[in-house]
Amino acid sequence: MNKGQQTTTSDLTETAETPSPARGKWSIAEITEKLIAEPDQTPEDIAHFLKVHSFARLIAELEGLDADTKEILEVTAILHDISCPLCREKYGNTNGARQEAESAPLIRAFLTGSGYPKEFIDRVVYLVTHHHTYKDIHGMDYQILVEADFLVNAGESAKYRKLLPEMRERVFRTESGRRLLEEIYPE
Ligand SMILES: [Fe+2]
Repeated sequence: MNKGQQTTTSDLTETAETPSPARGKWSIAEITEKLIAEPDQTPEDIAHFLKVHSFARLIAELEGLDADTKEILEVTAILHDISCPLCREKYGNTNGARQEAESAPLIRAFLTGSGYPKEFIDRVVYLVTHHHTYKDIHGMDYQILVEADFLVNAGESAKYRKLLPEMRERVFRTESGRRLLEEIYPE
């Protein structure tokens, strides 16, 4: 056999481990565990973001989202309520506008050393700082994040359940998100 055609084990390993440009050094599991380990995260905070991440990943897979956008979405879903402990401490509540205003520096600090490129982190920051803003939703990552968060919030709070008709009519856009909304919260 021509030596140039041989494939060695080290070649295969190298190929398998070569990251795509959007992949960071930290895995989704590592980011999840790192946030769980933050001392101000309550059991309720942790359960909430795990549920939102699970719905976001489910909708992303049902919708056939591309791998890079899915990774942005998954990191965002984990970190989307990162400012809740600070807002509870500082304002006594987790009002959406305050959460959005307080999130950016917390996310940038959390992802320092993650290995994610600047554009990736900028998009995560943008999404987290807009996830309670239901108008001008652009991008599948934004759309799915809003749907996943609402699917969870409606199960956790009567205040959000009251918004079901409006959310069904005006906000839910993905086919699988709309199906999940109907299956979980039938009209
Ligand atoms: Fe949330």
